[in-house]
Parts: sequence; structure tokens; C-alpha cells
Amino acid sequence: MVSAKLIALAALVAVASASPCKPPVLTLPSTGGSDLAAPPANDVVKRIAIGHGIQNYTCNSAVSPTASATGALAVLYDATPFYPGTPKTGLKQAAWDTLPSAALWGSPLPLNLAVPGGYAANESNPFPSPADLVLGNMAPLKFLGHHYFAADGTPTFDLSAIGLKASVTKNDTRPAPANADKGILGTGAVAWVLLRDPGLGRSIGIDTVYRVVVAGGAAQPCSVTGDGHFSVPYATFYWFYGPK
Ligand SMILES: *[C@@H]1O[C@H](CO)[C@@H](O)[C@H](O)[C@H]1NC(C)=O
Ligand SMILES: *[C@@H]1O[C@H](CO)[C@@H](O)[C@H](O)[C@H]1NC(C)=O
Ligand SMILES: *[C@@H]1O[C@H](CO)[C@@H](O)[C@H](O)[C@H]1NC(C)=O
Repeated sequence: MVSAKLIALAALVAVASASPCKPPVLTLPSTGGSDLAAPPANDVVKRIAIGHGIQNYTCNSAVSPTASATGALAVLYDATPFYPGTPKTGLKQAAWDTLPSAALWGSPLPLNLAVPGGYAANESNPFPSPADLVLGNMAPLKFLGHHYFAADGTPTFDLSAIGLKASVTKNDTRPAPANADKGILGTGAVAWVLLRDPGLGRSIGIDTVYRVVVAGGAAQPCSVTGDGHFSVPYATFYWFYGPK
């Protein structure tokens, strides 16, 4: 009996001391309540990105007092090496969990702005030259690519730095947790989202995208903005999954 216990204990110790060299298991964050569906069974995590940019809205107060969402624009940075438990580069869990907030509050919007100090991007030339994201004293998060809506309105993630692409449609949403970062304008966090490839052959290596741990991005009321287009800053994690 005793020896069996000792053997079991020795096995545990071996796992624990081996783990610093092994990549961690990447576990999609939970809202703490009802969660989005799990990724397809044979998928693996291709990248975890920080997205930092704007959510677009339009108001037509004759039709509704609340803004309707019209799209988004964001720059994507590779957060994968900082996942807790990653040998050498992994962050402490609390630092990881607040990485979207750190990007939102700690870095200027990585877009060419239409008006200095505003949140709207230059329509014809929204993205500056690729640059890594520097947050505090962390190692820089490498530039991964861009998130935008294609001309036909399809949410698109072009991970140009690694040759992957997701052209996806919204499958499901969950409200952000009540304690989510309400963002620069204090309007609240937009919902967590599951997006899937609709099978049009426009994606490369990615078939499932999650937007989770969102900070900011929710619309102001139309009574505040007046009619027309406006943009609200946000940052989030995007988890990209694809076949092995
Ligand atoms: C938007 O970008 C274009 C191309 O770089 C530039 O010519 C134009 O002046 C910019 N517009 C604003 C409002 O900054
Ligand atoms: C979002 O708004 C910006 C202006 O702030 C514009 O440049 C961009 O094309 C818009 N994108 C979408 C998808 O609505
Ligand atoms: C969401 O994805 C599941 C699994 O592919 C599918 O069965 C369901 O019809 C999708 N729902 C919507 C609203 O797209």
C-alpha cells in the first residue's frame, strides 16, 4: 500500500518538475456563466491575439434610440507566448487576464485617426505601418495582422504575419461578465462572440474565432452621439482555432 502511494507521489513530482519545459494546455476563458460552444473536436489553437481598435456604430434617432453596430477595425498582436505557464515568457494569471485592459488603457489606438484625439479612423487609410505592441515592461507583442470587415460585410482577420486568414460569420454571443472593463467611454464591454467559417473557401488555416475577455467597445446612446457614424475603442482576446 505504502509503496503504491509513494510511486503515485513520485509520478506527480515528476510531472510537476517536467512541466516548466512543456507548453501549457490552452484553455478558452469562461464568462463564469453560460459559455459559447467549444471549438470543433479536431481543432487546435493556432494563435491567441490581442485585438486593439474600434467598434463602429451608426445612429438614426428617427428609427431607434440605440445605435446599430456596423463593423470593427483592429490591429492584431500575438499574445500566445505570454499564456500563463508558457516556459520563460508566460505571464502570471492575473496579468494575462487583464492584458486586453492593459492594451486598451496603456497604448494609443493603433489606427490612423480621422481627427487627432478622436476615435474614428481615416476611412481611406486606417492602418499605420505594422508595428509591435509595447505594454509596460513586457516583451513586445508581435504584430500579427488586421481585423476589418470585407466589402460584403464579412468579418475578416488577416493574420498576414503568419499567412493565416479567417473570413467568418457570427455564430453565437454571450454578454460580457458584469465585472468586465467598461472601456474608455465607460459604455461597457461588447459581447463575447463565436464566429465560424461559412465554407466559402476564403479562410486559410482557421475555421473558428472567439472574441473573449472584451474591454470596452459598447455604443454610446444616440441621444449623446446624435445621428450618423461613430466609433468606440475596444481591446480583446481573439482565439483562433483551426484543424491540426
Ligand atoms: C487619410 O489618409 C490619406 C492617405 O494617407 C490622406 O491623404 C488624408 O489626408 C487622410 N485624411 C485625414 C482626415 O487625415
Ligand atoms: C469603421 O469606421 C472607420 C472610421 O472610424 C472606417 O474607417 C472603417 O472603414 C469602418 N469599418 C467598418 C467595418 O465599419
Ligand atoms: C452555430 O454553429 C453550429 C455548429 O456548426 C450550428 O449547428 C448552428 O446552426 C450555428 N448557428 C448559427 C446561428 O449560425
